[in-house]
Amino acid sequence: MSNRVGALVVVSVMAASAALAAQPVSLPTINDSMTKVLSVNAQTIWDISSHAFNKRGDGLVASKVTAKDWQQVADAGRQMQERGLLLAKTPRALVVAGPGEQVMGAEAAHGGLKKGTWDAASPKQIKALIDANPALFNKRAMILATAGSDLVKASKTRNLKVLYRVSSELDEVCDGCHQPFWGTDEPPPMSKALAASLPTLKR
Ligand code: HEC
Repeated sequence: MSNRVGALVVVSVMAASAALAAQPVSLPTINDSMTKVLSVNAQTIWDISSHAFNKRGDGLVASKVTAKDWQQVADAGRQMQERGLLLAKTPRALVVAGPGEQVMGAEAAHGGLKKGTWDAASPKQIKALIDANPALFNKRAMILATAGSDLVKASKTRNLKVLYRVSSELDEVCDGCHQPFWGTDEPPPMSKALAASLPTLKR
């Protein structure tokens, strides 16, 4: 009996390593793309534009975006474009998180492959969501790639309008993929029981 179990383990380990070998070594995990590339570069864009707002906050002031800033806009845009294209390519081949990587909120996820709308998601559930709709994942990743390439182009002509537009829309570009594949930014509707249990706010 234990021999058979042993043989099974060997077979499944071999299958797992064959699956690993079939994957291009260079394909980063989704978690790596998010924590090391997208969050960092999106922050760069938001920092540069928020330092350059005009008084009304509805546009940017040319003198407040330095040559160095434009260089960073170009770099950040290029990295987001490249990562967007990579995410778009073969969504089903993507690994959500590797060993040692922690998906934010996953510890609060329920078991199983399906998650409710407001549940936290485990890597398995995220993978199942992507496998069920790779076309939508591709579309969201391409929208990100386009935002990145718009920034690269804007940096060449120092186009403040485009920098302003992309940086104000970027949050929605990110959420447009997080909402269907990771979770939702919307708080769940409050149940009557919860509402009743909350103390009335007094000033
Ligand atoms: C094409 C889909 C897609 C796009 C576009 C996208 N993300 Fe994500 N992101 C995901 C998925 C799926 C997860 C959940 C897996 C995870 O947390 O690693 C995630 C999770 C994250 C996390 C949490 C990482 C963690 O610690 O678990 C951060 C931060 C993040 N994304 C940043 C961004 C930013 C910033 C952008 C926009 C510039 C963005 N993402 C655009 C798919 C996307």
